[in-house]
Amino acid sequence: MIGTSTPARPAITAAFISALRAAVEGDHVHVDEERRSAYGHDETEDLVFPPDVVVRPRTTAEVAAVVRLCAEHRVPVTPIGARTGLSGGALSVHGGVGLALDRMDSITAIDERNLQVTVEPGVITQVLQEAVAAKGLYYAPDPSSRGSCTIGGNLAENSGGPRAVKYGVTRDFVLNLEVVLPSGDVIWTGANTLKNSTGYDLTRLLVGSEGTLGIITKAVLRLIPLPRENRLMLVPFTSAEKACEAVSAVFRAGITPSAMEFMERDAIDWTLRFVGDVTVAVPDEVQAHLLIEVDGNDGDVLMKECEAIMAVMEAHGCGEVLFAETTAEKDGLWRMRRRVGEAVKSNSVYKEEDTVVPRYELPRLLAGVKAIGARYGFRSVCYGHAGDGNLHVNIIKGDLDQRTWDEELPKAIREIFELTVSLGGTLSGEHGIGLVQRPYMDIAFNGVQLDLMRRIKQVFDPLGIMNPGKVLP
Ligand code: LAC
Ligand code: ZN
Repeated sequence: MIGTSTPARPAITAAFISALRAAVEGDHVHVDEERRSAYGHDETEDLVFPPDVVVRPRTTAEVAAVVRLCAEHRVPVTPIGARTGLSGGALSVHGGVGLALDRMDSITAIDERNLQVTVEPGVITQVLQEAVAAKGLYYAPDPSSRGSCTIGGNLAENSGGPRAVKYGVTRDFVLNLEVVLPSGDVIWTGANTLKNSTGYDLTRLLVGSEGTLGIITKAVLRLIPLPRENRLMLVPFTSAEKACEAVSAVFRAGITPSAMEFMERDAIDWTLRFVGDVTVAVPDEVQAHLLIEVDGNDGDVLMKECEAIMAVMEAHGCGEVLFAETTAEKDGLWRMRRRVGEAVKSNSVYKEEDTVVPRYELPRLLAGVKAIGARYGFRSVCYGHAGDGNLHVNIIKGDLDQRTWDEELPKAIREIFELTVSLGGTLSGEHGIGLVQRPYMDIAFNGVQLDLMRRIKQVFDPLGIMNPGKVLP
């Protein structure tokens, strides 16, 4: 079996720092405590791993120069985006250089003839969405953190979000990537074409590789025409499992919603308290909601789709459906949905699992998670992208004692993942493996599969400097 070498804590010499300063124009190499700790965490639990030095290059050539120096001095380099990640992909767990891409934030070109856009990694996802929307175009991947996360992080983790159910995840929008390899060489992975059957697909390999194979410095993304209209409804259920059962029935009825989100009672209660400015009356008996959106260009067609969805919901015993009438109401419901994660985080220490199963298995996943929780004595708040079978399981520490949290919980999480895999699913739908899910990779992959991945890692990064300590166990 091939191992991937992990560098020991590197010696950061004055000569190395000087060389970094010479490689990056301006004052963008930082060793002060404040900057190091700011770039030492993302949104993963309360984990903090400061890099020894923060470097903020502006150009691909500067990134390449920094990476070459890291290779020469055997110093780990961890690419860092907006630090909204949930699996610890951007944490400098072995110290070294934290390579922050936030200054590389240009939308280089919007090609309206080909419906493509070229961006640097530091562009905020929502900024990109709004820039192309102004031209009647749509970049659909839409993580909850879109107002602060960046395209580079979305590419690294293969982010999804609510619209993935109709339009696909980040990977499905990528045509071509400029990548700085761990050697410092710069390559493009493919071509700016919609079709490409030319050789191995390095583009798809790099997306979701969590900064372990190289650093993405430019991306050519596919766009689609912006849908002109949408309808949004919030559907209550007195049984969370019934809500989950209704999900796959919608698709079988011939409708593909542009979002099909699930929220447990606690998720909606906690979030309504947390956001403060959204009002939804939730009767006592309601246990879960589906938030369902359809989009397109023809209002009559959307109305018919809503009626078909309503029929499916009623057949599954839903309560009284709330239709968002105005843009303000729609925005309020989406604001609520997007902030569930933050609301949970503000309530208690928690651990987040990003389970995903084939859509029809969702009720069995939810029931199984609750049964495991009951056995181990933990509470969970579940929500997520039901249309994708992607359930975010937030395990709440509450008043669980520290020993149970540290020693028993990993066993419970292992059971949750074993259940997920037994249902045909896998460990992460959109948050990545990063640091925190790494101990569970053996549940999804056997030795042969893991060995193949380790050998891929070795080919790209023989020195083991590129974001060490991530993905592979
Ligand atoms: C969401 C993030 C946590 O779905 O993925 O809100
Ligand atoms: Zn999500």
